Amino acid sequence: MRGRTAPAPDLIEIRVPGDKSITHRALILASLAQGTSILSGLLPGEDAQRTAAALRAMGIQVPVVPSDGSQIAIAGHGLRGLRSPAEVIDCGNSGTTARLLLGLLSGLELTATLTGDDSLRSRPMRRVTQPLAAVGAKFEELGEPDRLPIRVTGGGLRKIEYDSPHASAQIKSALLLAGLTAGVRVSVTEPILSRDHTERMLRAMGADLVSYNHPGERPRVVLNPPEFLDPLRLHVPGDYSSAAFFLAFGLLAPRGGVRVRGVGVNPTRAGLSNVLRRMGALVEELDPCLVCDEPVADLVVTPTRLRGTEVGADEVPALIDEIPVLAVLAARAEGETVITGARELRVKESDRIAALASNLAAIGVDVEELDDGLVIRGSDAPLTGRVRCFNDHRIAMAFGVLAALPGNEIEVDEPACANISFPTFWDQLAGAVEQLQL
Ligand code: S3P
Repeated sequence: MRGRTAPAPDLIEIRVPGDKSITHRALILASLAQGTSILSGLLPGEDAQRTAAALRAMGIQVPVVPSDGSQIAIAGHGLRGLRSPAEVIDCGNSGTTARLLLGLLSGLELTATLTGDDSLRSRPMRRVTQPLAAVGAKFEELGEPDRLPIRVTGGGLRKIEYDSPHASAQIKSALLLAGLTAGVRVSVTEPILSRDHTERMLRAMGADLVSYNHPGERPRVVLNPPEFLDPLRLHVPGDYSSAAFFLAFGLLAPRGGVRVRGVGVNPTRAGLSNVLRRMGALVEELDPCLVCDEPVADLVVTPTRLRGTEVGADEVPALIDEIPVLAVLAARAEGETVITGARELRVKESDRIAALASNLAAIGVDVEELDDGLVIRGSDAPLTGRVRCFNDHRIAMAFGVLAALPGNEIEVDEPACANISFPTFWDQLAGAVEQLQL
């Protein structure tokens, strides 16, 4: 039984790698700044290395992202200082690299071709290219419609006014980047506020950018194009999405507890904390501070008997990347958890609704797949079976948490795909298991 086998060890402490979304933006915006940016705590994962390599191919001297979060300097070339890359830019598995660069390139008088791995080449791109084409950018789809590889020819853009059908920070950020490099005004609305890291960073760099988020109205961001951007001095906070796996571990472990240090808790990202509280958990935020306008705190949880809950469309954008870990928590909660309004999950690194449904079923969880979500009925029964990752880092790590807990016998087929966002995940998880003597 939970908490009875031994005196609880102290809380274990975890540090997670830098935030993936903020890392992409810091690398890109530092390249566009006037002057030298000093960045530390950057994510060393594969996705961030793709963005760094793309910027290098366009003439920016970006050092290899250090594996220990140590500091690097990037001398920006100004808003229009990038050159056409000589080779095709391979965005690997990284949707954020591809979509943000499609925006950035649209504003510049140059031509570039972007591609990606099998997973990224199966993900939609017109959500970004359509609004950009409407203001003058040119896109040639070199493979399937709506998919990479795409050749973009930028320049001569008209001002951007777009009501996005999706609550997507990639769409919003692509349009803001296009406006920045083209020197045109941008106004974007979205159905629900998506992560606002681009907006916060641009403001910290001196841009005239205003966000409106009034009840009953679509959130709007308006950017008046700046002449230049100030360089950044930024320590990237820990990635909430990576911290979430250790929060789940801390909640489900039979003893102990977890304190994750220095995590970004921007409300457009940390929606899982609210859901966990509704499920009965105490999620404490300690030592809060602000870094480049981004709220940061330590997160603390202890083992808890969770209850099922309902998560609908209005909550999904602030926890879109945490649904895999929420699904495994739901598998251990009392009663039913219903997740709806999450159809976007079908076009992530894998079809996450299908991946979660098939994997939960494969290890003995009672699960129902919906068109736009999942119904999961939790239990305490031992979970046994083989999980398929579909080369999706978050699927691997979510089931990795369950696999690490005593009583379960779960094999994860491609653990190495965690390198996309959390290269030290498996070592840190094994360390946590050892510290808690599970
Ligand atoms: C991201 C935005 C989200 C998220 C992705 C990272 C970003 O995608 O799922 O992991 O850094 O802007 P969408 O914009 O497609 O919702």
